[in-house]
Amino acid sequence: MGMFRTKSVEDAIATTDEPGHRLRKSLGAWDLTVFGVGVIIGTGIFVLTGEAAGTRAGPAVALSFVVAGVVCALAALCYAEFASTVPVAGSAYTFSYASLGEVVAWMIGWDLILELALGAATVAVGWSGYAADLLSQTLGLELPAWLYSDEPSPTSPNLIAFTIILLLTAVLCLGTKTSARFNTVVVAIKLTVVGIVIVAGLFFVKLANWSPFVPPNGAPSAGSGEAAPSLWADLGVPLGTFGVGGIFVAAALVFFAFIGFDIVATAAEETKNPQRDLPRGIFGSLAICTLLYVLVSLVITGMVRYDQISIQAPLADAFRQVGAGVVATLISVGSVVGLLTVMMILMLGQNRVLFAMSRDGLIPPWFSRVSERSGVPVRITAVTGVVVAVVAALVPIGDLAHMVNIGTLFAFVLVSIGVIVLRRNRPDLPRAFRMPGVPVLPVLAAVLSIALMGFLPLDSWIRLGIWMAIGMVVYLAYGYRRSRLADPGRARAGAGTDRQGG
Ligand code: ALA
Repeated sequence: MGMFRTKSVEDAIATTDEPGHRLRKSLGAWDLTVFGVGVIIGTGIFVLTGEAAGTRAGPAVALSFVVAGVVCALAALCYAEFASTVPVAGSAYTFSYASLGEVVAWMIGWDLILELALGAATVAVGWSGYAADLLSQTLGLELPAWLYSDEPSPTSPNLIAFTIILLLTAVLCLGTKTSARFNTVVVAIKLTVVGIVIVAGLFFVKLANWSPFVPPNGAPSAGSGEAAPSLWADLGVPLGTFGVGGIFVAAALVFFAFIGFDIVATAAEETKNPQRDLPRGIFGSLAICTLLYVLVSLVITGMVRYDQISIQAPLADAFRQVGAGVVATLISVGSVVGLLTVMMILMLGQNRVLFAMSRDGLIPPWFSRVSERSGVPVRITAVTGVVVAVVAALVPIGDLAHMVNIGTLFAFVLVSIGVIVLRRNRPDLPRAFRMPGVPVLPVLAAVLSIALMGFLPLDSWIRLGIWMAIGMVVYLAYGYRRSRLADPGRARAGAGTDRQGG
């Protein structure tokens, strides 16, 4: 049936070599790992650790990081197998096109907008706040509050978020190698700061702060002390605050801290030896970050009792509380600098997914034109940058942040199922990396991802449903008819005109 037509893996690989739509291959395993770390370490560890420890899990937030890390590791196995079999830009979108069919691929591509574009806008709004705070603390410069408000309006837009997104878009337009260099510098700064937190923090750890390690349900909290809204709670599962349930609620929250390892797979086409290097990049970055997260969260909850922890800036505040103000300032600088690459690479991932969709004709082929000079799809990069900047400047993002988690977990579910389907339909394909335990582990990855989605509020589920329904309408109105698979001749002619025009 039309909607479930699949694009063969051979065909997907062949499209990567078309003139005018070819990405430059410049990345190795090391670049990919650094890319991964560049996007993974961000708001999650620098900010959400506070809310997760202070109001949901206490010192056991370290276990929440382990839980979220395990779910991600299972999904990472699936991504690694796919990426080594179908080394084509677009990650989950491309994988599902080869396995589950066009309509599912479209839905995934549409869903990834939540993870990538919305994720970048969310981080930009948070970043504007930290940047303003840093300016005020270090230089005494007080910016007007509307400039970095997370409740903006058309008359008072968040201009700081807007500007930073456009600047990062300019870096992305300069080419993937330039973005990678910029990323390497930022990652070095970020890792240094995280290293300082762990090493310096150890000297201030008081063992008494880790007891109780799992605070009992209803224990005093650093925040409002209310249980987090979630689908499970609405279905009658008594989660309360803290206790063992709290570890899982916190895991769904800090899951955000892991978002990004999957983006390594979107850079498949720009990788010199993708079959070997993509799995290395995915596992390498995920392993480094999980280890650092567990250590940081143990140190921070050891320095400050969980019910005294700061919800807004837990890491910097922990050092301020123990009288190490210099380290606190260093952490603020590190998080402001460190979040730059999180935003940049989330957008890079978004561009590559849209690029792949455009090359397949599901969105207009005009977008996927690659610039000769920089070797990147400049049109899609610029359009994405402007849209993300406008969203960050104008949309009150607060509640939408959950959408990023639910959107990403949903992509994990489909990718996990896709691995099983592709093994069954195309057992013959060379798989440089084969995930062990198929089908048990991919099924477990899907089930655990759905379970974690259950810890997110019902509102997010409803919004996800609405977003997907809109996506379906867009697909039926455009992609279903214009897809390259629907009419290969016309799509190619469109791309040809575009080449002459551009
Ligand atoms: N993982 C990224 C962060 O924590 C998105 O900011």
